[in-house]
Amino acid sequence: MPDMVKKVAFSWLEHSSKEDHQILAPYLAEEKERAWEHLIDLLHTQRGHEGPLLVDMYTHNLQTAAYAERDGADEETVVCALFHDVAHYVSPYTHGRVVAEMLRPFISDTNYWLLVNHTVFQSYYSAHHLGRDRHARERHLGEPWYEAAVRFATWDQRAFDPSFQVPPLDHFLPAVRRVFGRPPKF
Ligand SMILES: [Fe+2]
Ligand SMILES: [Fe+2]
Repeated sequence: MPDMVKKVAFSWLEHSSKEDHQILAPYLAEEKERAWEHLIDLLHTQRGHEGPLLVDMYTHNLQTAAYAERDGADEETVVCALFHDVAHYVSPYTHGRVVAEMLRPFISDTNYWLLVNHTVFQSYYSAHHLGRDRHARERHLGEPWYEAAVRFATWDQRAFDPSFQVPPLDHFLPAVRRVFGRPPKF
């Protein structure tokens, strides 16, 4: 099968032409629409990475989404839960902020800030065992997204449970498509 993709003529961007960019623009637009598929690919890479945990991070993400859905969260929040730790391994020190930026064009400010800060809210359930302040999240008291982040953490902290049978990933895909199908805010 020959490669039928029409190629640009430039190797250096400074040598590109208007025709090159007419070739390139629809491709880049299509790739933007497929961003969610790349996030799903990243989610799949978390399968089997469980170490001493009882579930892997793929399952942890799905369980968090399932708890959100079961608790009556809106569709956007369920999608945020599904991806909240998708950057856990590729960006261990800033994974909340990384995924928040990935989703930012499609989500509310509340969900953006709770993703950025979800780790400190989750740490309410564990920080005291590590000699740290479990109440560190209270530095955000008064923020309009505070209660949403507290609620999110209740799902996040329970999602390490091998006895919790979650729906398959396919169950969440229509919601993912709808959220990523919104007009981006950028
Ligand atoms: Fe996390
Ligand atoms: Fe998590």
